[in-house]
Amino acid sequence: MALFHHSWSFLFSLIFSWLVSPTGALYHGYVPSPWTLAHATFYGDESASSTMGGACGYGNLMTNGYGTDTAALSTTIFNNGYACGQCYQIRCVQSPWCYTGYTTVTATNLCPPNWSQDSNNGGWCNPPRTHFDMAKPAFMKIARWKAGIVPVMYRRVPCNGIRKGGIRFSFQGNGYWLLVYVMNVAGAGDIS
Ligand SMILES: *[C@@H]1O[C@H](CO)[C@@H](O)[C@H](O)[C@H]1NC(C)=O
Repeated sequence: MALFHHSWSFLFSLIFSWLVSPTGALYHGYVPSPWTLAHATFYGDESASSTMGGACGYGNLMTNGYGTDTAALSTTIFNNGYACGQCYQIRCVQSPWCYTGYTTVTATNLCPPNWSQDSNNGGWCNPPRTHFDMAKPAFMKIARWKAGIVPVMYRRVPCNGIRKGGIRFSFQGNGYWLLVYVMNVAGAGDIS
């Protein structure tokens, strides 16, 4: 039992030091990517209640710190889930429905392709399109929602300052297995 406790706490300290080390995996001196053209739509309603859950496994986005500034990414930028938790600045362009300024969203879901819809008429998330299906409150910060779909410029940015309160953990496990959800990751948002 003593041995068990020893290895257990070792594992925890290992994980913890890996996560919080300022020179560790979280910080690469990450700088924003260039602005790139894409498109954005919205889903759900103003309460963003339909933004719960999602392919990234974050569960309840309110209690887990993501709020309503979230988006589902098309397969092209979802990158098999590596985009989960990453932050993007998005601003509306080239449309009379645009507001000025940008908003920042966290990727929390996949917008899956729908091949029964034309890629230029409803199948917005079909590859190779780069598309953000934003939670409605986030979309309403960059454009009038009546627009439906707008061209946007986006760039990936560090998540610092968006998620406050540091990294959240939820440990689920027992003596034989351990599942660590790393939530609220600042910096570039990824952990590899
Ligand atoms: C795909 O598009 C078709 C045609 O608009 C629609 O009926 C169907 O519900 C869509 N499927 C999904 C999974 O959204």
